[in-house]
Amino acid sequence: MEIREFAERVLLSTELALKVNAISTEMTDDFPGEAVRVEEPNRPPNLQFAERRAAPRLPSPQSLIDPRKRAVAHHILANHELQALEVMAWTLLAFPDAPSEFRHGLARIMVDEQRHTRMHAERAAKLGVQFGDLPVNCYIWKKAMDFENVLDYLAGLPLVFEGRNLDHTIELETAFNAVGDTRSAHIMRAIHDDEIEHVRFGLEWLRKLKPEELSDWEAFEKHLHWPLRPEKARGEDFQRQARQQAGMTDEFIDRLESAEDTTHKS
Ligand SMILES: [Fe+2]
Ligand SMILES: [Fe+2]
Repeated sequence: MEIREFAERVLLSTELALKVNAISTEMTDDFPGEAVRVEEPNRPPNLQFAERRAAPRLPSPQSLIDPRKRAVAHHILANHELQALEVMAWTLLAFPDAPSEFRHGLARIMVDEQRHTRMHAERAAKLGVQFGDLPVNCYIWKKAMDFENVLDYLAGLPLVFEGRNLDHTIELETAFNAVGDTRSAHIMRAIHDDEIEHVRFGLEWLRKLKPEELSDWEAFEKHLHWPLRPEKARGEDFQRQARQQAGMTDEFIDRLESAEDTTHKS
């Protein structure tokens, strides 16, 4: 299948299975086509983006003792994974001139994001909530609409959203283990391990595509669009080793860890 066709299938299908089920054919990139910026992904009626306040917030770690709250958590996370997948598809359609090696790499990562979406959706269902039973937000998607080039994508999605997920996945693994839900904890660890590779991919391409005179950090900062900023690229429980595994320099990691919290401005 052509990468463009795969991206269109993920972004423009209204049926969830077509968006998130893996396809087994080889990917080709012979016809990347014209640049198209899709404003909103197509989704089934029960997964349309809702007002931010209509969607439930991530339940507190203490409340996860209640299986229903764990189901809500997986439902929210399934929507995060689905948005990441859709943003990647959007990027393939918006930037057809990006190097083919980058496009192939991104298409491979999308297969992981499809699997992550299915894992969370299946776990939510097992705990009593079908994916689509609750309102879902569009936070990640909306931020991606500010991306003007591939470097913006790299700074914003792999290095902020996937970067901070290196911390969130471990925080949630700990929280699920604390209430005895080892299956949910295992899902978080599996996603964490994949996320290291996704962040590595983002960093490697940032290095390849940035102007040589800019450091990794300068290129990262330069390509963030407010409200995305360095301190958004970390959670509570800072995972230094995972970032080292993803190829970040110690200097880059130190800067991330100490980036000033300016949340009061947002
Ligand atoms: Fe993911
Ligand atoms: Fe990812």
